[in-house]
Amino acid sequence: MCRIFQIVKNVKSMKGMVQTMPASIVVGTQWGDEGKGKIIDIIASRADVVVRSQGGNNAGHTVVNNGETYKLHLIPSGILYKDTLCLIGAGVVLDPKDFIGELDSLGARGVSFDNLKVDPRAHVIMPWHITLDGLSEQFRGNSDIGTTKRGIGPTYMDKYERCGIRVYDLIHPEVFAEKARATGKLKNAIITKVYGGEELDIEAIIKEYTEYGKRIAKYVDDVSVIVYEAAKAGKQIMFEGAQATLLDIDFGTYPYVTSSHPVSAGVCVGTGVGPMIINDIIGVAKAYTTRVGKGPFPTELNNETGDLIRNRGGEFGTTTGRPRRTGWFDAVIVRHSVRVNGLSKLAVNKLDTLCGIGDLKICTAYKKPDGSIIKDFPPTLEELADCEPVYETFPGFDDDISGCRSFDELPELCKKYILKLEELCGCKIAMVGIGPDRSQILER
Ligand code: GDP
Ligand code: IMO
Ligand code: MG
Repeated sequence: MCRIFQIVKNVKSMKGMVQTMPASIVVGTQWGDEGKGKIIDIIASRADVVVRSQGGNNAGHTVVNNGETYKLHLIPSGILYKDTLCLIGAGVVLDPKDFIGELDSLGARGVSFDNLKVDPRAHVIMPWHITLDGLSEQFRGNSDIGTTKRGIGPTYMDKYERCGIRVYDLIHPEVFAEKARATGKLKNAIITKVYGGEELDIEAIIKEYTEYGKRIAKYVDDVSVIVYEAAKAGKQIMFEGAQATLLDIDFGTYPYVTSSHPVSAGVCVGTGVGPMIINDIIGVAKAYTTRVGKGPFPTELNNETGDLIRNRGGEFGTTTGRPRRTGWFDAVIVRHSVRVNGLSKLAVNKLDTLCGIGDLKICTAYKKPDGSIIKDFPPTLEELADCEPVYETFPGFDDDISGCRSFDELPELCKKYILKLEELCGCKIAMVGIGPDRSQILER
C-alpha cells in the first residue's frame, strides 16, 4: 500500500479510537458539597479508572455504602472498588502528611491501595503554605475568603510563580532538601517580616517530609501516560471533580473562590489528556443551594427555613465542620454551570431534605435596580451586588420519599419540582438523590 494511504488509514483508525473512548467527568455545579462523592461512587462502579485532576484536601467527598460512611479528601472516591485504578493527576496539590493519614485511616478499614498512582508533577503542600494560608486570611480581617486553611491558595501561587516543590522532588531527598532550604528561607522571611508570624524549623520539616517521600514513592507514576493508554485500550475512565463551578478561579465568584479550575475543562490540563476523550459531562447539584466560606449567595436564607434545611440536610462541612450557609435552588447559577462545563446531564441530590419544609422557591432570574431582568450569571461581584433573585413558588411536599425505587414512584409535587428545575436549567436531570446511601438514587 502507498505510504500516504497507510498514514491516512492509521489516522482514521486512531480517530475511530478517539471517538469511542468512553470518558466521563463529574463536576459540581454550585458552591461545592453537592453530593459529588455519592454520584462518583455510583459511576465508579462502572469505571476502570478514576482520576482526580485539581484541588487538594480542601475537598470532602462522602460515600455511604450500607450504613458505612467514608469521607475522602484527596484519594479518589473510586478507591472503594478494589479493581479500579485510582489516579491523582498533575493538577492536584498534595499534602503528604494528610495523604498518608488518609491512606492509614482507610487502610485500617480494609481499603487496598494497590491501584493508586500519583503524578510526579503534582505540587506538594508544604507547612509554610498552610501557615501562610492562615496568616493571609488573618491579615485580610473582615475581607477574608473563608478558606479551608489547607494551604491550597499558597501552593498554587508557588506553582504559577515557578518555585513550587513537586512530588518528584519530594521522593528524591537531595533535590528536595535543596529546594526546601531555598524556598523555606524565603517563606520564613515572609512569615516573620511581613506577617509577624513565627519562624518555621526548615531542617525539621525537611527531615519529616523526606520520610513522607519514602512512603509516597511507590505510588508515583506518569498519570497522563496511564490515562492515555487506558483510553486507547477502551477502558472506562471517570474524572472526579472536586469543589465546584462557582468556586472556579475564573468562572466562580472571584475572589471568593478556590485557586484551581473545578470546571470540566480543568480535567484536561490537570491530567494531561486531550478533550476528545470526553463524551459525558455530569453536573451535580443539590435540590437547594449551600455554600461554606464567604462570598455572595443571592438566594441565601438567613431565617428559620434556612436553619431547617441546614439541620435536616446535615449541612456541616465535611472537611472543616463549619455550618454551611443554605438557600433556595438558584437556576441562574446552574444554567451558568451547564454552559461553562458543557454539561450533558445533571444529577440533583437531596430532594428528600426538602420534605416538610413548606412552600419551595426556585430562583429563575435576577432583577437589576432599573427593573431589567437578567438570566445569565454576571461575570463580576460588582454587577451581582445589584441583583435581586426573582422567584417562582411551588407547593412543598410532606411525604417521605427516601424509600422510592423509581422516579415515577415520587409524589406528583416532587416530579413537578424536578421537571421545573430541568426546564429552567436547560439540561436533562438524569439522576435524583433521595438519601445519602449509594442505593438512594433514582435514574431517569
Ligand atoms: P461532595 O463534596 O460534593 O462530595 O459532597 P459532601 O460529601 O461534602 O456533602 C454532601 C452530603 O450530603 C454528604 O453528607 C452526603 O452523604 C449527603 N448526601 C448526598 N446525596 C444525598 C441525598 O440525596 N440525600 C441526602 N439526605 N443526603 C445526601
Ligand atoms: P468539595 O469537593 C465546599 C471553599 C472554601 C472557601 C473557598 C476557598 O467537598 O465540594 P480554599 O481552601 O480552597 O482556598 O477555600 O472554597 N471550598 C469548598 N467549599 N466544598 C469544597 O469541596 C470546597 N473546597 C473549597 O470554603 O470558601
Ligand atoms: Mg464536600
